[in-house]
Amino acid sequence: MGSFGRLARRAVETDAPVMVKMQELLRGNKDVMSLAQGVVYWQPPESALNKVNKLLWEPSISKYGSDDGLPELREALLEKLRTENKLTKSSVMVTSGANQAFVNLVLTLCDAGDSVVMFAPYYFNSYMSFQMTGVTDILIGASNPETLHPDVDWLEKVLQENNPIPKLVNVVNPGNPSGAFIPKPMLQRISDLCRDAGAWLVVDNTYEYFMYDGREHYCLEDNHIVNIFSFSKAYGMMGWRVGYIAYPNEADGLHAQLLKVQDNIPICASIIGQHLALYSLEAGPEWIRERVRGLVKNRELLTDAMSALGESSVKGGEGAIYLWAKLPGSCSDDFEVVRWLANKHGVAVIPGSASGGPGYIRVSFGGLKEEDTRLAAERLRRGQQLYFLYTRG
Ligand SMILES: Cc1ncc(COP(=O)(O)O)c(C=O)c1O
Repeated sequence: MGSFGRLARRAVETDAPVMVKMQELLRGNKDVMSLAQGVVYWQPPESALNKVNKLLWEPSISKYGSDDGLPELREALLEKLRTENKLTKSSVMVTSGANQAFVNLVLTLCDAGDSVVMFAPYYFNSYMSFQMTGVTDILIGASNPETLHPDVDWLEKVLQENNPIPKLVNVVNPGNPSGAFIPKPMLQRISDLCRDAGAWLVVDNTYEYFMYDGREHYCLEDNHIVNIFSFSKAYGMMGWRVGYIAYPNEADGLHAQLLKVQDNIPICASIIGQHLALYSLEAGPEWIRERVRGLVKNRELLTDAMSALGESSVKGGEGAIYLWAKLPGSCSDDFEVVRWLANKHGVAVIPGSASGGPGYIRVSFGGLKEEDTRLAAERLRRGQQLYFLYTRG
């Protein structure tokens, strides 16, 4: 039996991370272009990198900092939340990225055995956070196959009829892996239902700046709503690990409990990373939007490359950096298609089954510059066409 039987069920029974599976698939395969990982191709603002470069020998950089985050960063974030997100009654905790923010919240808001709600296709890491903390009663709502919007009528029933009532509802807006954007009246309805049922609503705004075709991001604020944000994609800071939680000032005791979790996981987010975040904020949203505008062409190239899948098979991309594409009925195994594309055609995408959407693939349009996206798109086009020919034959 080895030691397997002595490992915690909470870990053993948690899904394996799809990105690690992808890394295994791609190991040794040097010529693969990645449309898989949710990353952007740019680096943080040059001015910000230059400024942190000068801080390296500053003693405070190598010490622990306040659990909640550097005071000057928190102050700047409160201002950003107030002016950009219209959140005026929220406090801030800086975390080691949005993923750690989510784990903090699950540990603070949910007990093992509680039920929670997500909508498929869901963000795989959030699903895993529930699983590994013992929150295994994960109720998965459907999304409308056309709009990819959550089925709010189903949610209404679940929140009114389930016993016990779900403790927390989680949405990502705009979505990963769908790239779909939930319109404000719909999120408001979700929020009202949560409030009336006494459930928390956790909204992941990692892609707040990644909005296309004139759409504008918004946040909601109320005593049952917690918003999560990230510096990773917006400022090209994936490896610096900085995100934050905006939680309601008036939620009794929430801060004290969040602090316990924070103090036991990162203690504080990386200090140098927090300084980079602060300097990046000086570059401001226009710096990000300029880069995001450039992604529109990538989205177009990849949408076009997948036209062989059939009209209306490629969805999403209203926001975030993802297209969500339905494979033809003949492709029952999405991982098999992913393997084929990587091994035979040198292009990597994510299988939809990792997000509760078997029979789909997630294609990211943020990680490559336009010239490389063009190349990757051609590989994707060719790989898909040949796969369908081959499976039909
Ligand atoms: C919806 C969503 N939340 C959180 C994260 C993780 O972000 P961070 O790097 O800030 O932990 C990602 C990254 O892909 C994401 O797509």
